[in-house]
Amino acid sequence: MAKDRSRYVCQACGAPHPKWQGRCDACGEWNTLAEEAPEPRPAGPAAKAGAGRRLEFVGLKGRSAPPARIATGLAELDRVLGGGFVPGSAVLVGGDPGIGKSTILLQAAARVAAGRRALYVSGEEAVEQVRLRALRLGLADSPLGLACATSLRDIAASLAQERDAALVVMDSIQTVWLDSLDSAPGTVSQVRACAAELIRLAKARGFALVLVGHVTKEGTLAGPRVLEHMVDATLYFEGDRGHQFRILRAVKNRFGATDEIGVFEMTERGLVEVPNPSALFLAERRGNVSGSAVFAGLEGTRPVLVEVQALLSPSAGGSPRRSVVGWDSGRLAMLLAVLEARCGLSLGQNDVYLNIAGGLRIAEPAADLAVAAALVSAATDRPTDPGMVYFGEVGLSGEVRQVAQAEARLREAEKLGFAAATLPRRLARGGGRAPAAPAGLTLHEIGHIADLV
Ligand code: TYD
Ligand code: MG
Repeated sequence: MAKDRSRYVCQACGAPHPKWQGRCDACGEWNTLAEEAPEPRPAGPAAKAGAGRRLEFVGLKGRSAPPARIATGLAELDRVLGGGFVPGSAVLVGGDPGIGKSTILLQAAARVAAGRRALYVSGEEAVEQVRLRALRLGLADSPLGLACATSLRDIAASLAQERDAALVVMDSIQTVWLDSLDSAPGTVSQVRACAAELIRLAKARGFALVLVGHVTKEGTLAGPRVLEHMVDATLYFEGDRGHQFRILRAVKNRFGATDEIGVFEMTERGLVEVPNPSALFLAERRGNVSGSAVFAGLEGTRPVLVEVQALLSPSAGGSPRRSVVGWDSGRLAMLLAVLEARCGLSLGQNDVYLNIAGGLRIAEPAADLAVAAALVSAATDRPTDPGMVYFGEVGLSGEVRQVAQAEARLREAEKLGFAAATLPRRLARGGGRAPAAPAGLTLHEIGHIADLV
């Protein structure tokens, strides 16, 4: 029968195709199709229609307490999770290989193990390797339960025996495999089937499950998209391997806010929390150089100050270079066009390099004003006021627009010793509430980007 033949599944988005082709019709990725055996269908009476149990519908009002949390004691991790792991839930922790996923989860699990039963299953490393890491992290005496296994059958059977496990870490979901499926470990069908089985166990047994996945945000490895639908929360661990610090970011969270970040520093003894990231990001800032401006940004609920650096150099001919690290290159092109059209600042003949110092990635349009200030400073070769922070969105006609949470940004700036802020002018009427400026801060409200030049 046709449906029992193997099929070709896109390893990026999970879409099935009857035959091999170079490009996935569903997501447009190239060379992502791999042959996989079909997943077994449920057999027996459950598969027949009409055999279901009648549901009991309830009202929305009820006495459901907020979920109890398993706090890890790593404050940055707990905050990103929304207060700690939720029993019976599944969290996916993704990130590039070598970024520190195993390290942070070993640290978190060992902390939980101090009070509750916590288990760490590694499919990637041998017991000796994990023990060595634990020794290095100073966790060798932790009562954490460690097992190295890749057979889902063994893992599931062991977890089903666990009476009071509170936390189970599976590192990584790409290494486990189910022998009833023909496809190789790490393929979409394996990852999906194994994750589904572990999540079912977590719900039934009430432990919090953490799945580690070697996935980048672009989803270059098996199953990220498929997994994201199945879990309750997805965290990405990101950062530059050339930099010391790592950022844990929630991109989906059924039990808390998304876009919350936790900042860690990778040290000799594992990941250390960074309670004040602004100070870290600004640590190497040098005053009195042109092309630098401090952006008062917001990551989740937390204000973060970062330095925006711009460098202009005469183009060697041909089309000028635009090189951006940590920001959107499309937005840089737009800002350059606005500066040229609305302020007469011609940068078209220059190569433009833009860098968010420290390696943080910024997605907020509120950074426009800081980027503009850095560009103007670089173009005029005049340093910006080192005691000034900038924030505000810039529109196509050069108008400077309001952004969310002005007060929080200003408070952070004051806390770090800044004396002034350049921000959008509040509207004359309507919703434009004046930000309550902290006492020590002078506000320069501007309505148009030309006011900056
Ligand atoms: P790891 O947790 O193995 O990454 P992942 O599981 O995401 O692949 O982290 C590996 C890197 O972290 C490795 O390059 C060494 C570094 N590291 C430290 O700098 N300090 C430490 O205490 C540990 C355990 C690792
Ligand atoms: Mg690892």
